[in-house]
Amino acid sequence: MEAKVVVLSPLHKDAKKSFKCGSDFLDKYLAQFAFQDQQKKLSVCFVFENPSEEIIGYYTLNASSIDAKNIIDQRLMPFKTNYQTLPIILIGRFAIDQQFKGKGYGKKLLSDALKRCTQQAHQIGACAVFVEPKDESARQFYLKFGFRGLPDQNKMFITMQNLIKIYSVFH
Ligand SMILES: CC(C)(COP(=O)(O)OP(=O)(O)OC[C@H]1O[C@@H](n2cnc3c(N)ncnc32)[C@H](O)[C@@H]1OP(=O)(O)O)[C@@H](O)C(=O)NCCC(=O)NCCS
Repeated sequence: MEAKVVVLSPLHKDAKKSFKCGSDFLDKYLAQFAFQDQQKKLSVCFVFENPSEEIIGYYTLNASSIDAKNIIDQRLMPFKTNYQTLPIILIGRFAIDQQFKGKGYGKKLLSDALKRCTQQAHQIGACAVFVEPKDESARQFYLKFGFRGLPDQNKMFITMQNLIKIYSVFH
């Protein structure tokens, strides 16, 4: 059996307490707040688990919006619009447990997240996927996968049009 991505559930009660990614904030979020947020429909947490039911990594997704002005003025989107805000999907948290780092799991999990966002964008409008890297190392990780930084903001994004080209098999 292979590792698989599933929605966080009460079955992960013990495994989520053992998760250690090197960021206390991200560990604590999974252990204490992710399920609560999910029940309130603020976000959905996806867990990458192996056949031993260990959590390799996790990410969260939620609907969000961004101020259109800078993005449109700087021609960062492949279109013009007069809307003041743009609908996006936010990967709010993303982390791999330290014991599984450097083995390609981050790449697999990010690909899962981006495919899922692409599929959702055929049902609900969202013109980009955003992340908020927690430090320079995370920024470098996202740069590798085609995310672009927003000037003067700790936000990075990929346009949905680019994602649809990459994951065209899903539409
Ligand atoms: C950043 C993180 C998700 C990477 O996960 P990982 O499983 O070690 O990454 P992978 O092994 O899948 O690496 C995939 C590619 O990214 C590169 N990479 C991994 N971490 C990187 C980093 N910090 N900076 C630059 N490149 C990185 C790898 O070299 C690899 O490149 P390759 O495909 O050319 O070989 C993980 O280290 C982590 O959870 N860190 C703590 C939390 C965090 O920073 N979250 C990010 C959002 S805030």
